[in-house]
Amino acid sequence: MADPSNPTAGAADDDERTLLELERRYCSWGDTVHYADPPKFFERAEGSYLYDREGIPYLDLQMWYSAASFGYGHPRLKDALVRQLDRLPQLASQYLHTERVQLASALGRLNRSKFGLDGRVHFNVGGSQAIEDSLKIVRNSTHKNLVFAFMGGYHGRTLGASAITSSYRYRRRFGHFSDRAHFVPFPYCFRCPYDKKREDCGLYCLQQFEKNFETEYNSFWDPKAGESEFSAFYVEAIQGTGGYIIPPPGYFAGLKKILDERRILMVDDEIQMGMYRAGKFWAIENFDVAPDIVVFGKALTNGLNPLSGVWAREELISPDVFPPGSTHSTFSSNTLGTAVALEVVRMTGEIDYETIAREKGARFLEGLRTLQRRYPKVIGDTDGMGLALRMEICHEDGRTPDRDLTDRMFREGLAGRLAGRRALMGLVLDIGGYFKNVFTFAPSFEISEDDIDLAIDLLDQLIRRCAPPDRL
Ligand SMILES: Cc1ncc(COP(=O)(O)O)c(C=O)c1O
Repeated sequence: MADPSNPTAGAADDDERTLLELERRYCSWGDTVHYADPPKFFERAEGSYLYDREGIPYLDLQMWYSAASFGYGHPRLKDALVRQLDRLPQLASQYLHTERVQLASALGRLNRSKFGLDGRVHFNVGGSQAIEDSLKIVRNSTHKNLVFAFMGGYHGRTLGASAITSSYRYRRRFGHFSDRAHFVPFPYCFRCPYDKKREDCGLYCLQQFEKNFETEYNSFWDPKAGESEFSAFYVEAIQGTGGYIIPPPGYFAGLKKILDERRILMVDDEIQMGMYRAGKFWAIENFDVAPDIVVFGKALTNGLNPLSGVWAREELISPDVFPPGSTHSTFSSNTLGTAVALEVVRMTGEIDYETIAREKGARFLEGLRTLQRRYPKVIGDTDGMGLALRMEICHEDGRTPDRDLTDRMFREGLAGRLAGRRALMGLVLDIGGYFKNVFTFAPSFEISEDDIDLAIDLLDQLIRRCAPPDRL
C-alpha cells in the first residue's frame, strides 16, 4: 500500500489491488456510478472490444452509453485528432478556428435539409452542459421557467438537468428544486402507464396529455390569454437510460401538434440516440417531427475529446435575441473536439450508417427474439430500432421485473469467464429501465455479423449460468 505521506507515491503503484485501495481512499465516488463491486479496470480498447489487465477481451455491447458508437480507436477519427493536435491543439473559444465554423455549418445545413428550418449551433463540452444551455435558450425566448419532461427521462446531473430528469433519487440530497419539470408518462407500451393495449389504445396517453389544456382549472393553460405556463417539452425520442423504449407510431407527431397549438417548444435530447444509434442521424427523424431545439453530445466525437452542442431555430438563437456571452464556457468549442466531430459528420455523409444500423440491428434483434422464444420465463420483452436494442429480464410471468437476475448476468459478464470462440472472454453490458431490469444494447456500428452472433451466444451462456434451473 502506498505511503500516504508521500504525495507522489500513488503514481508508482500500479498493481490492481493497490490501485483499488487508492481508489477507495482518494477518488470521489460521486462522479461515477460504481455498479460493479469491485469496480473493473480496463487497459486497452479496440473496435468492439475492451481488454482487462490480464489481456482478457470483453465484447462491449453498450459502447460507453453510445458515446463510442463508431468503435474504439477508429483510425480515421484518431487521425483527425492527431492532425489537429499537431496543428492547432488549443485556442480560446473567443477566437475562431476553421473546424468550429465548418462543423456548425455542416450541422446547420443538415438540419435545414431534415427539418426545413434555419438554425444555429452552439457548443459546450458535456451533455448536461448543453442541456443547461438549451434551458437558457428556452427561458430567454419564452421568459418562463416551467417545462414538461417525461417520466423515465434522463437529461443529466447538473442542477438544471437534474430538475428535468424524473428520478427523485438524483435530486433528493440537493435541496429544493422549485422549477422541477412536470413529468408526463412516456408511451412505454410494454408497461403501459394506463394499462391499455397498444393495438387498440388510440394513443390514450396523448389524449390524457391534451386534457391538461381543456380548462384553466387543470393548471396549465390560460384560455383567455391563449398562453401556457409551460415553455417547452423536453423529450428523448427513444428513452435511453429509461430502457431504450421505443414509442408507438404517431405519438410524437401528435404530441408536436398539441404543443404547436399552445406555442410550447419541443426540445429533442439526442445526446444518447443521435448520430445514427436509432438508424437515422437524429432518432426523432424516425417519427416525422421537426423539433424546435436539438441537444447532442456523446457520439459527436465518438467519445474522443468531448464536445456537445445545441441546435436551435434561428428565431430562438440569433445573436439579436441570444447575444454573445449568454452562456460562455472556456472549453466550449475546443479545437480537438470540433476537428473530430467534423470528421464524424463527414464520415456519416460518406458511409451509409442508416443501412448499417438497420441491417445489423435487425440481425441482433432476431437473435434477441430467438432467446426470448427459448427462455420465456426469463425474457419479458425485446425490441429495437436501428442499433438501439433492449431486453427486459422478468420473472416466470413474463412481466414482473427480475432485477436480481439482471444484476447477476451483468456481474457474470464482467467476470470474464464466458466461453469465447478461442478462449475465455467477457461481456460489457448496461442496465437501464424504470425497474433496472433492462439490458440496453448499443453495439458499435463496426460490429461484425460474427460478433453479433457471438453476442447472442454469450447472452445465452449468461442466462444458463445465472437463471434458476426451473426457469430454463
Ligand atoms: C439522453 C441523455 N441526455 C443527457 C445526458 C447527460 O449527458 P452527460 O453525461 O454527457 O452530461 C445523457 C447521458 O447519459 C443522456 O443519455
